[in-house]
Amino acid sequence: MININSRHAAFGLTMLLLFFISSTKAQTYAENGMVVSDNVIASQVGVDIMKKGGNAIDAAVATAFALEVTHPEAGNIGGGGFIVFMKSDGDVTTFDFREKAPLAASPGMFLDENGEIKNNSNHQGLLAVGVPGTVAGLYQAHQKYGKLPWAELVKPSVELAKKGFTMTYGLYNVAVRMSERDPAEDIMRNYFRGEDGEVVKPGETWKQPALAYTLKQIEKHGRDGFYKGEVAQKIEDYMKANGGIITKEDLEKYEAVEREPLKGTFNGYDIYSMPPPSSGGVALIEMMNLMEQANISSVEFNSTAYVHLVAEAMRRAFADRAEYLGDPDFNLDMPLDRLLSKDFAKTRFENIDMNKASISDPAQFGHPYGGDNTTHFSIVDKEGNAISLTYTLENSYGVKMGSDKLGFIFNNEMGDFNPVPGVTTATGQIGSDPNLVAPEKRMLSSMTPTIIAKDGKPYLVIGSPGGRTIINTVFQTVLNVLAYDMRIDRAIEAMKIHHQWLPDQILYERNLLSPDTRDALEKMGHTLRPTTNIGVLMGITYDASTKLYTGSSDSSSEDGGARGY
Ligand code: GLY
Repeated sequence: MININSRHAAFGLTMLLLFFISSTKAQTYAENGMVVSDNVIASQVGVDIMKKGGNAIDAAVATAFALEVTHPEAGNIGGGGFIVFMKSDGDVTTFDFREKAPLAASPGMFLDENGEIKNNSNHQGLLAVGVPGTVAGLYQAHQKYGKLPWAELVKPSVELAKKGFTMTYGLYNVAVRMSERDPAEDIMRNYFRGEDGEVVKPGETWKQPALAYTLKQIEKHGRDGFYKGEVAQKIEDYMKANGGIITKEDLEKYEAVEREPLKGTFNGYDIYSMPPPSSGGVALIEMMNLMEQANISSVEFNSTAYVHLVAEAMRRAFADRAEYLGDPDFNLDMPLDRLLSKDFAKTRFENIDMNKASISDPAQFGHPYGGDNTTHFSIVDKEGNAISLTYTLENSYGVKMGSDKLGFIFNNEMGDFNPVPGVTTATGQIGSDPNLVAPEKRMLSSMTPTIIAKDGKPYLVIGSPGGRTIINTVFQTVLNVLAYDMRIDRAIEAMKIHHQWLPDQILYERNLLSPDTRDALEKMGHTLRPTTNIGVLMGITYDASTKLYTGSSDSSSEDGGARGY
């Protein structure tokens, strides 16, 4: 591996680690295999598994468990997610381990007697927790496609939790804030504290003994180590004692599902992404089709026309998302073929006025931006397999609750369901039927783990966190690589916008869009709002001429990085 940003300073293991963790990253190259994740220790765990003979699936399982330990704001065993897996023979499959609503859930479960959301209960408190899917999904993918024994993949994380790892500045910043939060968010008060009761400081070792216990059960018993036995009992006890509704029956019944990927094309490239219950793949392919219609490569990047076109594509894809998409096991008539067709993109393109913004009408047929904490990693191995995995707790540190006997945090993914049946508002709350709460239903997601292939081989492996912004972040990065020929680090860092139909506004990255362009867009009828950052992308590209993988992690990831060999 050659890390082009590597510098020389390293004074013992701790300083070396701190250096890597705080260094800025551009691109990393590798010949054999690579992991790009939100934490360099987790990336290295995945690479070590590949060096021992494991494949990309093995590395993904090991990296995902390591992120639970080293990147707990989103790395998880208490949440859920998706894998897109491209095998070396060109075949692609996906694993859906999205959380499910508990058996005791109902469409009006978050409402008071006036039909309004009670105490933010779809995001706060244990009613907001969906039945976790991560362990089941990783286990299922490993049983079908893994090479190394399961226990070997979980063991490094048990050790990381037990023996600890060096607290970073990035983690410490959050640790201080989290340790001072509302006492109702029980687990967070002590989460980052050492045996002396103080928050562990940068450079000191942070150990998580309760999490080590839970991971050990998973190491020994596989899926059953989480969904049955001691851990399941402790989850049920914690839920009962704190107002939650998840039972052992919910856990035992949870199943991950292997699903066919969605496939689209763009100018000769194949796009593989996640089908429902994620909306990511549908919206991505719909927008890429529209960009093909618009011949986007001929439109200058970041020009007024570019922002207008991209925003109008987003507006349309998000309106369709709100109208049609939900859990496929509950919505058997979603018009996916139509939404993904080139003909549909043609009609969608024809009603874009290049001089004027369209209007988003809630009466005809949006959700605020949603959870921002999710994490993505991309993996390639020397056999030519590729993994794009995004998983989440919904908000940063999920519901910020969990049993201190188990040491992990639960998601608050129930907030991704439409909370008030029938009520869609201009501020972005959506009330359409396909994504209303029902027992054992999966909430609609925006996660967009994606693999772009060229000639049957992975060309770009990409994904991001960011709630509903995920779809648009991945969309623009794919466009940057395929249409604007940007190298991966530049594609990741380039200016991003976000429009989600409702609220009817373009969110843009402050300082990266010129005032002249913003003026011109406002004159066309767009409303613009600045934000600091959109997306935390983790990407890998493959160069067939040099036979090298190039990886890059978004500079907004404090402890992220690419590792390869
Ligand atoms: N929790 C973010 C998503 O699934 O869209």
